[in-house]
Amino acid sequence: MGTRGWKIDPAGPLRGDVTVRGSKNAVTKHMVAAMLGGGPCTISNAPRVGDVEITAQMLRAIGCSVERDGDILRIERTAAPQSAVPQTFTGRNRIPVLLLGPLLNLTGEAFVPMVGGDQIGPRPLDFHIQALTSMGAQITVDDSGIHAVTRRLRGTKVALPYPSVGATESVILSAVLAEGRTVITNAAVEPEILELALFLQRMGAGIQLQPDRRILIEGVERLHGAATRLAGDRLEAFSYLVAGLLTGGQVRVHGCAQDRLVTAIETLRKMGAQFEIDESYITASAPGGLRSAAVSTGTHPGFMTDWQQPLLVLMSQARGLSVLHETVFENRFVYVDALKKLGCEIELFPMCLGGNACRFHDTNHLHSAVVHGPSKLVGAQVHVPDVRTGYSSVIAASIAQGPSVLLDVDSLERGYDEPLERLQSIGMAITPVEA
Ligand code: EPU
Repeated sequence: MGTRGWKIDPAGPLRGDVTVRGSKNAVTKHMVAAMLGGGPCTISNAPRVGDVEITAQMLRAIGCSVERDGDILRIERTAAPQSAVPQTFTGRNRIPVLLLGPLLNLTGEAFVPMVGGDQIGPRPLDFHIQALTSMGAQITVDDSGIHAVTRRLRGTKVALPYPSVGATESVILSAVLAEGRTVITNAAVEPEILELALFLQRMGAGIQLQPDRRILIEGVERLHGAATRLAGDRLEAFSYLVAGLLTGGQVRVHGCAQDRLVTAIETLRKMGAQFEIDESYITASAPGGLRSAAVSTGTHPGFMTDWQQPLLVLMSQARGLSVLHETVFENRFVYVDALKKLGCEIELFPMCLGGNACRFHDTNHLHSAVVHGPSKLVGAQVHVPDVRTGYSSVIAASIAQGPSVLLDVDSLERGYDEPLERLQSIGMAITPVEA
């Protein structure tokens, strides 16, 4: 069998309605939380993304039942939990490290294989390991993965060096069943983290969200089952709004509330987009064309790093020079080669352009992009190394002259919910091919 790919032909303005489901970056963490419940948990509005299937297999391997009924996931611990996540999950996604603390609390020891996820920088796990160590875990790391032992984690003060989403989740998921109080300072406060905290509160956890990025957790002896409905994926919502704007069309996005998109909406408005927003949908059009912009990514409530890839393609069609400064991951521009192949005029620089200096100043990391617009795009054959590269290449290909082929689309399906069907439904000429 060959590589799975998609052929994309230019098809004019994309128009129509898209309903986004719950977010990829929330659902898998909720699945880990559900594993902590003493009774059944249900998570509804779950997206159909590859990461859910991988996480479901992981949970089954450590003693849970995970069933899917439409967009509802039912999760329950059905056997004594296994302390080791099997080695076969090495490199599949980023979830194993989040299981370390929970497995320690449930079994007194834990092994998790090395995590995977998109290759957008070294993505170290030092914050996770330091936090769990300060909570009493004895941790050793070798080529196979991370081993940890302790009778039960103890609450403590965890000062994160950077508001990491994963490390904040790791500490929350570990602290809810730890002994005593844990206080996280410099915590990430992304909406998906707040959602996770609310779900855990429903399960009986003691959690307070305090000002200035402080999260306080009072450990409890046990948690019970609970039900929740995931809020809409703000990455997908943004992606489809941009697909409409980029092609001179207009996509109406349902299922994602305005408050999850405030910064994205404001950024697009400054570039010339006009919005219509009500309780059930958000839609954007740019009848007067688009202007250039200077945007820096940042932690919430800033412009999120997962929005920058569709934005860069949009900048390639705006009038003038735009600047995009990535401050979260040092190597987030891996997808730019694919866009250049499609004709986008983009140059990368190691300096902090278009904003304040970030953690990557004085390094050689190419983390600022200058984009010349409007660029004339041409069809090409491109590989898709990660989920966001995939989406940006798809929308760029849809306005290129001539057909394009995207190869290795599996990673895109790991993060986007039924992308082929959704893109076809708004008029994209996209068909599966075996290359
Ligand atoms: N970091 C460390 N040490 C750590 C943890 C993080 O140095 O122990 C650094 C990272 O290297 C990075 C920064 O902290 O420079 C932020 O990383 P963070 O931990 O916040 O990211 P993550 O939890 O690995 C999640 C999402 C990403 C999203 C980021 C930022 C999941 C599975 N992944 O990653 O999503 O970009 O938060 O919001 O939730 C995507 O969806 O395409 C994606 C990559």
